[in-house]
Amino acid sequence: MGDPAGSSGGERIGETLIDSSRLHGRVSELGAEISRDYAGRDLVLVGVLKGALIFMADLMRSLSVPCEIDLMAVSSYGSATDSSGVVRILKDLDTSINGRDVLIVEDIVDSGLTLQYLLRNLRARDPATIEVCALLTKPERRRVETPIRYVGFEIPNRFVIGYGLDHGQRHRNLDYVAVLERGQGSRRRPFSRPEAG
Ligand code: IMP
Repeated sequence: MGDPAGSSGGERIGETLIDSSRLHGRVSELGAEISRDYAGRDLVLVGVLKGALIFMADLMRSLSVPCEIDLMAVSSYGSATDSSGVVRILKDLDTSINGRDVLIVEDIVDSGLTLQYLLRNLRARDPATIEVCALLTKPERRRVETPIRYVGFEIPNRFVIGYGLDHGQRHRNLDYVAVLERGQGSRRRPFSRPEAG
């Protein structure tokens, strides 16, 4: 038989943390807020691949102000479940952000180390302003304080999948956010971004 839930290796899609209608409702609210704040400005959304792909696609369609988009892909290295803050750029921006109003669009902020690196790297390119919009944050896991202007949802310290977020590159296509349940005996695998998570 097939595997309709797309589970593997003793892992399965667990409890739904944020269902589709809450997700889409919140994305519309964020879009309205960002549209108010960026009216008359030179907005560039910088999406962080691959996790922010779906969030960014929905967020930009909920904006009523003009915007451009660009994409970065980074990999962060760490031990089993912890990012080390050592980040490598796999794909850089195509456009200059000098003098522009940059909004970084992230899927999830966990320790904050990846975001800290990105902010430092992009600030060095002299944007007029730089802010962050993250769909999810796990405040309990934060190791460095990074300013996040727009937050979709604060979530508890659970490993989540769906709506762009993956585990082993799977489950990004779910239109909701669920907890990843690990079966007995399954090894905890890293969630670093060896392939641009
Ligand atoms: P940070 O540097 O620890 O903040 O790690 C951020 C990155 O780790 C995110 O952009 C994701 O790629 C990944 N990550 C952290 N928590 C989760 C999770 O619960 N599910 C999927 N990916 C996660």
